[in-house]
Amino acid sequence: MEFDIDRARKETPGATKVAHLNNAGAALMPAKVRDAQIRHLRLEAEIGGYEAADRMRDAIEKVYVSVGDLIGAGDDEIAIVENATVGWDMAFYSIPFKAGDRILTSEAEYAANYVAFLQVAKRTGAVIETIPSAETGETSVEALKRMLDDRVKLVAITHVPTNGGLTNPAAEIGAALKDHPALYLLDACQSVGQMPIDVGAIGCDMLSATGRKYLRGPRGIGFLYVRHDLIKTLEPPMIDHYAANWTQPDAYTLRPDARRFENWENNYAARLGLGIAVDYAREWGLEAIQTRVRQLAGYLRDELRAIPTIAVMDIGREQSGIVTFTKADEAGLAVKARMRAQGINISVSHPGSTLLDATRRNLPPLIRASVHYYNIEEEISRLIRLLRV
Ligand SMILES: Cc1ncc(COP(=O)(O)O)c(C=O)c1O
Repeated sequence: MEFDIDRARKETPGATKVAHLNNAGAALMPAKVRDAQIRHLRLEAEIGGYEAADRMRDAIEKVYVSVGDLIGAGDDEIAIVENATVGWDMAFYSIPFKAGDRILTSEAEYAANYVAFLQVAKRTGAVIETIPSAETGETSVEALKRMLDDRVKLVAITHVPTNGGLTNPAAEIGAALKDHPALYLLDACQSVGQMPIDVGAIGCDMLSATGRKYLRGPRGIGFLYVRHDLIKTLEPPMIDHYAANWTQPDAYTLRPDARRFENWENNYAARLGLGIAVDYAREWGLEAIQTRVRQLAGYLRDELRAIPTIAVMDIGREQSGIVTFTKADEAGLAVKARMRAQGINISVSHPGSTLLDATRRNLPPLIRASVHYYNIEEEISRLIRLLRV
């Protein structure tokens, strides 16, 4: 299917103002997402915050259905939280680790997750082990299979790492874990919104994602999926009177659904914006989005490779819309500043955000240009022209 780029850009207020190649940071919101939030903020100012939430109750509830539909989950399996990290942490810290339990993770695991592994390892005596990567760069499923034993309690993988262009083989990993009792936690922060995601097909038990990146939703909002049967076995690391009912002076009962991982006070404008963003992405179709993102990222990588001072640092059998590179004669931050002055948004990804991968590959700060379906070849060509200088 041909993408109606003109429509996509017309519905994106920022598209005429900037060449936004920082979609892995935060994508440009469609007007609909912006408007839904502003409408709700106005309503809160005009009739009161609690009263506005009451009035919008159905739409607020529907956000769970939209998010569930996006990833093939039930609405009761979704918790809407502040960001991907809170979602991931609520899942991870719910797991009762003990000394000797093994946590298997990928070489490109994100810093926020890895420091949590380290903290839990320090507290409990659980051990963290990295699954080696295949020669092509993605997590090796064969290596994972060889590492499995009955001490493996968790396999935690980043689907699309924050840099390095990679898409990890999430469903192949799920298939390898099918008959193993280990829990499978997928960080889908950078993949949700740029490709179809189906938790059943992937076979993960828990999945976290954020609103502002490829979903084109608001900042400060994200979600966690937890498989239905698992929810009741997990005690969240912290709870309030929304996550649990205070039933007796000395007792509480946790909610039966994934909202046990939430708390009471929320940004309803952001929630509504998230719901609209999800519906909007589904209107375009996640397969069509993926095709377009791949095509633009492929074009960008090809053009970059033709510049002698540039080295594309992307790995993996399957690659994402996140393109990373270095420039021999110019530091990443200088390139970013020079592009910003020319109305092009890119970012710099520091080694500390994926320290294992950065150490293994001896990576300096990487220049990151991340494309979305509403970008056009002309924006990429402008970037390339300026990089040639
Ligand atoms: C792979 C990955 N996981 C998790 C996160 C954290 O997401 P959030 O900032 O929404 O908590 C990021 C953010 O860049 C990321 O790239």
